[in-house]
Amino acid sequence: MNGEKKQSESTGGRLYLAPMEGLTGYVYRDVFRELFGGADKYFTPFIGPAEKKVIRTRDRREIDPENNKETNTVPQIMTNRSEDFLYICRLLVKLGYREVNLNAGCPAGTVVSRHRGAGILGWPKELDQLLYGIFEGLETDPEISDSGLRVSVKTRLGLRSSEEFPALLEIYNRYPLSELIIHARTRSDFYEGKPDHEMFVEALKNSACPVCYNGDVNSLEDYREIVGLYGDRAESAVMIGRGVIAEPGLIREIRTGRKTEKHEWKKYVDTLFQRYREELDGDRHALMRMKEVWTYLGKQFPGRIRELKDLKKAANTAEYESAVMRIFLG
Ligand SMILES: Cc1cc2nc3c(=O)[nH]c(=O)nc-3n(C[C@H](O)[C@H](O)[C@H](O)COP(=O)(O)O)c2cc1C
Repeated sequence: MNGEKKQSESTGGRLYLAPMEGLTGYVYRDVFRELFGGADKYFTPFIGPAEKKVIRTRDRREIDPENNKETNTVPQIMTNRSEDFLYICRLLVKLGYREVNLNAGCPAGTVVSRHRGAGILGWPKELDQLLYGIFEGLETDPEISDSGLRVSVKTRLGLRSSEEFPALLEIYNRYPLSELIIHARTRSDFYEGKPDHEMFVEALKNSACPVCYNGDVNSLEDYREIVGLYGDRAESAVMIGRGVIAEPGLIREIRTGRKTEKHEWKKYVDTLFQRYREELDGDRHALMRMKEVWTYLGKQFPGRIRELKDLKKAANTAEYESAVMRIFLG
């Protein structure tokens, strides 16, 4: 969590590891940093909602400073109630955090129907009230106001259409956000279709706070295209999710030009599996996590369709390890 120092060590624009439920938990963040490193910020998958003021044990582990010693971690909260957001903020301040992120992008049906995540984008008044409550609390709550806690938002461009974005941006611009991270899609897009770069450029032009791009950056070329959108505006910031799970060396390649070697992928999956087995309750959970990682990493092995299928079906550690060995053979 001593990230302020690490942030200034990086060269070029800022690069963030995206929050991904089931993927970028603290074990992943730490292994990724240790083996490939280079991200300026590491966002936690969303925490909350903390209804009845209860934070799940799982979420507590995510934010435990012990589990975030080396990464500049930004906890993400998903709620549409400012009092719940502030409740978690008080805890985060005590733990030493200096930035917290609001999730206004999750497209899941059960989330959206409750006006949370991307759902809140369809209810601009509620979004405005939520931000008002949060920023009023930041100023007036004695447990938070002196901490210098910053609030960033991760948003989509709208619920159904990017055309909703200018009005949403007007709302965001009323508040002193530390950063606006834009997954350049709408909720209706889920993860499909091409991100709307044109609307992102509009956001760059009109946002009152720094803007970070997110969506489909899977290669150095994709990254360069996005940096091109910034032109000679402020320093670029790009958040990468699936691209890093599939190619954990991507951020390093962007920074240094160095390509990942096959043995590094092997070490990546072996270390992750070992750490998950140590941290999670039983190998079954560790296997599930690894299968999720392989749904992305598998793209690096187009000639190993059968072995990847075996891996997906693996019922125990022995079957999993045998499939991994065969994937890396030759
Ligand atoms: C499995 C999965 C889980 C995700 N979990 C979260 C989450 O907890 N919070 C969030 O803001 N976004 C979440 N996202 C969205 C990503 O952070 C990111 O916005 C999206 O994947 C687009 O970026 P990418 O193309 O670089 O992956 C998730 C995406 C996926 C595929």
